[in-house]
Amino acid sequence: MEKLVINGGTRLKGEVTISGAKNAAVAILPATLLLNGVYTISNVPNISDVKITCDILQDLGAKINWITPNELTIDTRDIDGKEAPLDKTSKFRASYYLIGSMLGRSGQIEVGLPGGCNLGARPIDQHIKGFELLGAKVDVGQGKISAKAKKLVGTSIYLDVVSVGATINIMLASVLAEGTTTIDNAAKEPHIVDVANFLNTMGADIRGAGTDVIKINGVKELKHEGSYSVVPDQIEAGTFMLAAIATKGDILIKNCISEHLDCITAKILEIGGDVEDFGDSIRVSINKRPTKANIKTLPYPGFPTDMQPQMGVVLSIADGVSVINESIWESRFQYTNELINMGAHITAQGKTAVFEGVKELYGAPVYASDLRAGAALLIAGILAKGTTELYNIDHIDRGYEKIEEKFRSLGANITRVTEE
Ligand code: EPU
Repeated sequence: MEKLVINGGTRLKGEVTISGAKNAAVAILPATLLLNGVYTISNVPNISDVKITCDILQDLGAKINWITPNELTIDTRDIDGKEAPLDKTSKFRASYYLIGSMLGRSGQIEVGLPGGCNLGARPIDQHIKGFELLGAKVDVGQGKISAKAKKLVGTSIYLDVVSVGATINIMLASVLAEGTTTIDNAAKEPHIVDVANFLNTMGADIRGAGTDVIKINGVKELKHEGSYSVVPDQIEAGTFMLAAIATKGDILIKNCISEHLDCITAKILEIGGDVEDFGDSIRVSINKRPTKANIKTLPYPGFPTDMQPQMGVVLSIADGVSVINESIWESRFQYTNELINMGAHITAQGKTAVFEGVKELYGAPVYASDLRAGAALLIAGILAKGTTELYNIDHIDRGYEKIEEKFRSLGANITRVTEE
């Protein structure tokens, strides 16, 4: 078992380069199943969720060749599998993208029920509704999902909830369907636009990604082999922005798209931080204690749920009383118990948490309950007085590339330790 040992009390200073977006990469890689060919994908984050995606694609018959740690070629000409390994697919969330992609490719697939971070109930009814409206038969049971379609036919699909996964999955399934599919009440996250851009580069006809109505005009086949660079990770960039604020630091964040970070920038300015926007890089600093703020998580362009725990760390040391309302995931306040162990004053009940800011946090042994909770506790360890031992760090490795190296280059004192 590995843990991170953090000797805290550091003001983070320097430059950091953001990797490609996890939530785009884990959709773009399965999306290559929609065509026969060889693709080069660059700016791929080297994280465990990507490695497991590649493993599963190889099990289905894809040939993957890593050219550099962040660039790979994927050859989908020999895909023959109809069954993705249940043990691997049920380990992480984005395995559901194999359903949309394989329905499009061969009209048949079986995957394990998607796992992933423990954030409370994570239904996929909207994905299934979309596949069924397109003409597929979907069975869920005994820990797996089987989907079959003789033919997919474009139709109108209204999402009852704004869902990132359902929007992308329906887009994947309808690229090769007959006729036009319309997704109403679609999610608008940057990674949705990125997946649509990737598919269009390969010959799909998708319009409106990034708005709440997406139209997919089905094409007979995707024709273009090619290369594509994954969009920078909005959430990784936001994590370093809030790390700068939490530690009273000064960080230049390179390889990001500042427009994707507007909602985080707005909150940083509200609590007294400074943000300099250079378009593809952003400098965040603060030289005083941040002030309180209220947060409500919302689908893009609202404040992202995936930044909520990192913001929770900032508010736990801010001047005044702040309230966070989590509107996406029911169990996203598990990290608050760990922050309380570090000296924070937080009351969390249901989807609301009240943060009564304290001046300092103190190092303690803490446990990451999920990916973003892990990132938040790492930031808390860096700002806290004394030593923090952070456990369950496999959650962090799922979504952040070289996290301790990046924080170390900003001055943090972090060691990865392997325990028996
Ligand atoms: N929902 C339904 N039915 C569905 C799908 C979703 O009711 O069929 C509900 C969910 O319960 C939730 C809301 O709709 O309340 C939004 O869920 P969404 O489908 O957007 O989430 P997801 O696709 O499962 C992705 C990210 C998550 C991120 C959410 C919200 C991936 C692989 N995961 O999950 O990322 O929190 O969107 O932005 O893209 C993370 O990176 O740490 C992470 C958890």
